[in-house]
Amino acid sequence: MFIQDLSLPFLNQFFDLFCDVMNNDFLEYTKNQRKYFLTDLYSKEKYKYFLHSSYRKTLIAIENDEVIGFLVADQTFGGVGFISWLGVLKQNRGKGVGTELVKFYEDFCKDKNAHLVEAYTFPKSIGFYKRLNFFEVGTRSKGYFGVKNIIVDKEI
Ligand SMILES: CC(C)(COP(=O)(O)OP(=O)(O)OC[C@H]1O[C@@H](n2cnc3c(N)ncnc32)[C@H](O)[C@@H]1OP(=O)(O)O)[C@@H](O)C(=O)NCCC(=O)NCCS
Repeated sequence: MFIQDLSLPFLNQFFDLFCDVMNNDFLEYTKNQRKYFLTDLYSKEKYKYFLHSSYRKTLIAIENDEVIGFLVADQTFGGVGFISWLGVLKQNRGKGVGTELVKFYEDFCKDKNAHLVEAYTFPKSIGFYKRLNFFEVGTRSKGYFGVKNIIVDKEI
């Protein structure tokens, strides 16, 4: 398994997995919100655009030429890297893929002289971030899109 930046040849595979995880795991969001993400905010066309923009950082994990995980983040701002989406193909979970994606992003942030990585997560996934030494900053009972957010940070 290896991690690399999203590239055009993997766009379709990545987006299929992104849709799969969005519709099966991010059930904190309503069906309409998930549809809005997939057809507008984070549509395949947007990701194609992100490939050439200097704003997003999208990583994919590849095994046997197949995309098995992704991490969607920014390029750091003010010394802080922000993780927006993280997902691993269901049958590949629990094998360290999520950890490798986050570590790769941490290294990228360090190279940019950033001092902090931030994410927001949900009760079901907080354990994953704590395993990676993120600390819980606090909770917004109504955060982005009205959903409960647990904010986690890691100094790097
Ligand atoms: C959360 C997710 C990305 C983790 O990826 P993964 O590849 O399965 O994680 P890893 O194998 O690297 O796990 C690292 C450690 O965290 C633990 N862990 C993983 N998911 C966990 C969870 N939801 N709760 C508690 N611990 C968890 C693993 O057991 C492992 O512990 P170990 O080091 O003692 O073996 C994956 O489960 C996923 O895609 N979930 C659905 C989408 C999601 O919830 N994304 C994150 C929300 S922001």
